[in-house]
Amino acid sequence: ALVNTKEMFKKAYEGGYAIGAFNVNNMEIIQGITEAAGELKAPVILQVSKGARAYANPTYLVKLVEAAVAQNPDIPITLHLDHGPSYEMCKACIDDGFTSVMFDGSSKPFEENVAEAAKVVEYAHKYNVTVEAELGTLGGVEDEVSVEADKAMYTDPEQVQDFVNQTGVDSLAIAIGTSHGAYKFKPGQDPKLRLDILEEVSKRLPGFPIVLHGASSVPQEFVNIINQYGGNMPNAIGIPESELRKAAKMAVCKINVDSDIRLAMTASIRKYFAEHPDHFDPRQYLAPARQAVKDMVAHKITEVMGCDGK
Ligand code: G3H
Ligand code: 13P
Ligand code: ZN
Ligand code: NA
Repeated sequence: ALVNTKEMFKKAYEGGYAIGAFNVNNMEIIQGITEAAGELKAPVILQVSKGARAYANPTYLVKLVEAAVAQNPDIPITLHLDHGPSYEMCKACIDDGFTSVMFDGSSKPFEENVAEAAKVVEYAHKYNVTVEAELGTLGGVEDEVSVEADKAMYTDPEQVQDFVNQTGVDSLAIAIGTSHGAYKFKPGQDPKLRLDILEEVSKRLPGFPIVLHGASSVPQEFVNIINQYGGNMPNAIGIPESELRKAAKMAVCKINVDSDIRLAMTASIRKYFAEHPDHFDPRQYLAPARQAVKDMVAHKITEVMGCDGK
């Protein structure tokens, strides 16, 4: 059934695991993710970005997710807006039938972030929709980060109680060293998360669900296939699974994955094209690409999130 995140986060917090939140942009991605979750009896969050809405058209994505819910009646599925830039977009998604939204005001001054998030919460809760917000800035590895700039980017644990109390949000994304995309660390850099900050945050917000963005692992098996078959992604590095597992056992209840889906599909399709230069039916290369998404998601659910059978 299509549900909000309330119950799944409560169980995840208490059970010491996390729910996978996967970005969806087309039918094959939605099928790959939900086939894996369905077979493993895992709750799952399907998230739609502003860019996904622009690419696929909001109606198509909602209808495709509804089809996946009908195909997988035994598992809880959440349809979530990822990085909603404004109250208006959050409202539009709630009106379209989303069961959860993120308002991302993390780049705004604290007071503006609070004010707009509170407005989203007021509207969302009328419709039983849960709200995620964000405090802190996710790293960008391209930047030359000095120690000072580095420190300024992480979520300040001193701010989280005021933020949650003043907004009424249901979950909070924090910055502890993850970043979006396939280049999360420089070669030679220690790929570690600031789990001490997560610990500080959860001491101040006991029982409150925390979200990790930018949490793809960038599996080297995909990067190597991409580079072997004509791609060019030197030094693509993600978050080690061991770090994510530790976070999942702590207050983190939602782990966001998009880049690993892109890598799984691209590796599969590049290899397929190299091996079958005469094929031109999209079903021929999209079927294995969908299977690659399914296999990757199944691995995440069992080895990283720990939410299979939950
Ligand atoms: O957080 C970003 C997600 O990976 C979505 O990316 O905005 O290109 O759809 P997108
Ligand atoms: P990745 O780029 O690490 O997959 O992060 C995705 C994300 O946070 C979507 O909101
Ligand atoms: Zn994100
Ligand atoms: Na957890």
